[in-house]
Amino acid sequence: FVPPASGGAGGGSTAKDAKGNDVKVSAFIAGKAKGDRELTQGLKGDPTYIVVADGTIVDYGINAICTHLGCVVPWNKAENKFMCPCHGSQYDETGKKVRGPAPLSLPLAHAAVTENDTISLTPWTETDFRTDEPAWWA
Ligand code: FES
Repeated sequence: FVPPASGGAGGGSTAKDAKGNDVKVSAFIAGKAKGDRELTQGLKGDPTYIVVADGTIVDYGINAICTHLGCVVPWNKAENKFMCPCHGSQYDETGKKVRGPAPLSLPLAHAAVTENDTISLTPWTETDFRTDEPAWWA
């Protein structure tokens, strides 16, 4: 029996690595610089970027699924953007759409460090701070 990877109160989940293990924040940030980011398995198993802040992580994760046709969008550090290899959509460092054909920005999730050094992800249902519009994905 393999328990489901996500679940828990309020539709939240714990960020997992590619092997399905909980991401440990201390290990995640070790050797990384502010603004570095890496994919984890987030809400509903969606690929989700966790971003390094000063000695911790940024309090939101960025869903990596392109809002055009669903490719996973890589981070381009040199350009400081997410750049979709499929049809050229671009998103800024917060996941806000800056170039189509993608119609919308990348969805957000709340990210918080737990007392167990893991990352709790919970649905973001508030206003999208990047656009000041309602969260289109909520
Ligand atoms: Fe990303 Fe088309 S799927 S630009």
